[in-house]
Amino acid sequence: MALMRLDKFLADLGVASRKELRDIIRVGRVSVDGTVIKKPEQKVDPETQSLTLDGESLTYRRHHYYLLDKPLGIVTATEDREQKTVLDLLPPQLRRMGLFPVGRLDKDTSGLLVLTDDGDFAHRVISPKFCVEKRYYARVDGEVDAEDAEAFAAGLTLRDGTVCLPARLEKIGPGECLVTVTEGKYHQVRRMLAARGKPVQELRRLSIGALCLDENSEPGSLRELGEDDLCKMFRTGNGEN
Ligand code: URA
Repeated sequence: MALMRLDKFLADLGVASRKELRDIIRVGRVSVDGTVIKKPEQKVDPETQSLTLDGESLTYRRHHYYLLDKPLGIVTATEDREQKTVLDLLPPQLRRMGLFPVGRLDKDTSGLLVLTDDGDFAHRVISPKFCVEKRYYARVDGEVDAEDAEAFAAGLTLRDGTVCLPARLEKIGPGECLVTVTEGKYHQVRRMLAARGKPVQELRRLSIGALCLDENSEPGSLRELGEDDLCKMFRTGNGEN
């Protein structure tokens, strides 16, 4: 890996802003290979050198991944002139890291949303080519039935003629169902259920691949994803494993 400035490396980790880091470094809180470094411009190689802040090891990660339980009423975008975006929900140090949402949840949809700075990863999650399953809980007007499930499985045609890939529809209770899709067309789940005469009243994304929201997850909660979580996203299993 190319050498990089110490303050830039620490800023990329989300430790603090570049300005704050200059002071943090100048007062001697950062060591490289056991030696205190007080120059923010010092070049370091985070892959081969060991860095500490206040004695704690700093692990270099090329990319960052976070799971946000998106609340209702927030737009899935990196900026918006009028409305609050998912990035506005992050603590200040994470807002500087160039994170963006992987795919989109409507303003009126809550649930699992991944934020990352890794474009290739995002593409693999979103593209239907990779068949990554996204599962939603939906509360609808009316009751879904076996015919609806068959229509979903066959590949539904929406009211505007758009053809959807085969999807799964499971009834789980009165007016409640689970929908599993491998693509993310505009308002897709809402439009699929509307096409069957079952308008959606509530929609929440529960899982991507085998990565699922905790049962007691609170909208607005955020956690960093580790390697295991990322691998889970490319496994099937509806979050049950
Ligand atoms: N399908 C929808 O209709 N809305 C979402 O937010 C996600 C999937």
